[in-house]
Amino acid sequence: MSEDQQLFKAGQAILNKNDFGGYTVPTQGLYPFQWNWDSAITALGWMKFNEPRAWQELNVLMSGQWDDGMVPHILFHKDSDTYFPGPDVWGADKKVKSTSISQPPVLSSVVKILCEQAKDTQLRDQTVMAMLPGLIRSHLWWYRDRDPENTGLVVSYHPWESGMDNSPAWDEALERVPKVTWEYQRRDLNHIDASERPHKEQYDRYLYLVDLFKHKQFQSPDIYRDCPYKVNDVSLISILHRATLDLIDLCEQFNVTGQGVDQLKARATLTAHNMHQLWSEKTHFFHSKDLISNTLCRVKTNAGFLPLLAGLANKAQAQHLAKEAQTWMAASKYAIASTDPREPQYEPQRYWRGPVWLHINWMIALGFERSGYRDVAEQIHNKTDMLFREFKFFEYFNADTGAGCGGNDFSWTAAIAMHWLLKP
Ligand code: DGY
Repeated sequence: MSEDQQLFKAGQAILNKNDFGGYTVPTQGLYPFQWNWDSAITALGWMKFNEPRAWQELNVLMSGQWDDGMVPHILFHKDSDTYFPGPDVWGADKKVKSTSISQPPVLSSVVKILCEQAKDTQLRDQTVMAMLPGLIRSHLWWYRDRDPENTGLVVSYHPWESGMDNSPAWDEALERVPKVTWEYQRRDLNHIDASERPHKEQYDRYLYLVDLFKHKQFQSPDIYRDCPYKVNDVSLISILHRATLDLIDLCEQFNVTGQGVDQLKARATLTAHNMHQLWSEKTHFFHSKDLISNTLCRVKTNAGFLPLLAGLANKAQAQHLAKEAQTWMAASKYAIASTDPREPQYEPQRYWRGPVWLHINWMIALGFERSGYRDVAEQIHNKTDMLFREFKFFEYFNADTGAGCGGNDFSWTAAIAMHWLLKP
């Protein structure tokens, strides 16, 4: 058996092990539920060896969609005492227990990829036709509830919504959030070394926001008015924009028309028009924006490359980003670091403050490829491939040493390897 075949089999075993019956947990113990963007990305792996299971993953994710259209960030299908904060803390008593925020909506882009790869076209057509109305509602939820002022740039209310929980980009915005005063017991530190996870100081503030959403009874206009953390997250905006374009394509392919699709097109145009607000002429880079101080989040993070994925960078910006990527790749042994290795906030092993994530590299590489920078895309691919082969299936990787960090036997790492790196 070739090395690729062996690794592919190992990836397959990880998805089977993390299969909790129709949905895949990111890793056992640390994350014992269905996470939104983990699940969507994991479907790319399932698709390589079990098409029905790939579609099922997405259907189960959509089964937790709220009536207002939101697809939550975590679905608590079954109880578990290995994770905090659980459903009781979030207090969202819906048909499937869940959190009350969402996560980067990569789902429609994944559906488009699965459609292109499907061999069982009957299953594909049935599934996608049934799923499209929910997908449209979920995108309209972002544009309506998270962009009430019609700016084209949706607003995120919680660092966990970015998926890049602990990014130094959020430090200043998060400092404005009060800390909870009630006692709680974190569970992540039972699984993972504290040096690889966020500090208590940040958890205290994460939980304040969770409490606030509950006290506001999850009413978007009230949260928009009073939330002390409001950020235009450049990664979330880019992923949403790419997914909206992919969803519009899917609607055309499946002859779905109507007001919802027209609204998506109008919002996508608005995003493209206003994206320049997140570009800094000083740093020649894209940054998220803190809406409360009305300033760009200063620290450079890998999120700044993602507008390329969505075609949201113009030619000159793409050229700057290509140069920047080369500099980052030279600045840490393993790349692309989640925080610019030259920033004082860079910590190569701590959650989102330096380590490398495979799925982000995949999206950045796709962005460079789509923008005509094949050579940069290939370098990122090769660097990711080298890292994965040396250190295998961890949640993330120390950008200086490559050492695996966070959870092991991690579903999205296996999925991205099967989808992007391995040629069995
Ligand atoms: C966690 O608990 O660390 C998760 O990343 C939240 O989504």
